[in-house]
Amino acid sequence: MPGRQSEGECRMKQVKIAPSILAADFARLGEEAQAAEQAGADRLHLDIMDGRFVPNISFGPVVVRALRQVTRLPLEAHLMIAEPERYLAEFAQAGAGTIIVHQEASLHLERTLSQIKALGLRAGVALNPATPLVLLEEVIAELDLLLIMTVNPGFGGQKFITGMLSKIERARALLAKDSLSCELEVDGGINAQTASRAAAAGAEVLVIGTAVFKHPGGIPAALRAVLPAGGRF
Ligand code: DX5
Ligand code: ZN
Repeated sequence: MPGRQSEGECRMKQVKIAPSILAADFARLGEEAQAAEQAGADRLHLDIMDGRFVPNISFGPVVVRALRQVTRLPLEAHLMIAEPERYLAEFAQAGAGTIIVHQEASLHLERTLSQIKALGLRAGVALNPATPLVLLEEVIAELDLLLIMTVNPGFGGQKFITGMLSKIERARALLAKDSLSCELEVDGGINAQTASRAAAAGAEVLVIGTAVFKHPGGIPAALRAVLPAGGRF
């Protein structure tokens, strides 16, 4: 049965790790990024916060540009900012390869996604925990990446919301139904325990901040703790 086969395939997918530099030591950001690259990270996740869409303020395109000089890893910018369409070109010029905007922050989401693609970048959308998947129904075929937030955005180090496992499963089913190649990524509270549960639910990219950069054994040990041998769940 094709349905069963694709379910099996997705569960055996190689899971990718996207360390979130929000949890890194900002005084040594270049070294931290390079250490993540050497340890086998697949991309870097850059959390951009504006103090309006989320209560916290982090950093902007200047830091993205600086990181672009020190690592070959793809950079994905997770824009937790109001009116993200105003800043797309700046993040593209700074070196982001993927831009993720929040559904809740972009009134004309279809246009925003088209603008990201017109800049030659991969387009992603993030959903807050309370936002239902159905709100993406009309644009899901346009997405390169769907980010399911497993915490309320704004801070690192929060607890994984277990109720989001069912949302990850439903997102996986939605993508499988139309054979969409869009990546399914999860963000927030991912550690050795929650990583396997999120992957079993269908996530193929795990954003991890605290459990990578604050691991007492260092970044390579952190990645080993999160990924089983070969990265297959
Ligand atoms: C939350 C951010 C996350 C966060 C992840 O607003 O989008 O990317 O930094 O950090 P941990 O892994 O510590 O939850
Ligand atoms: Zn993030």
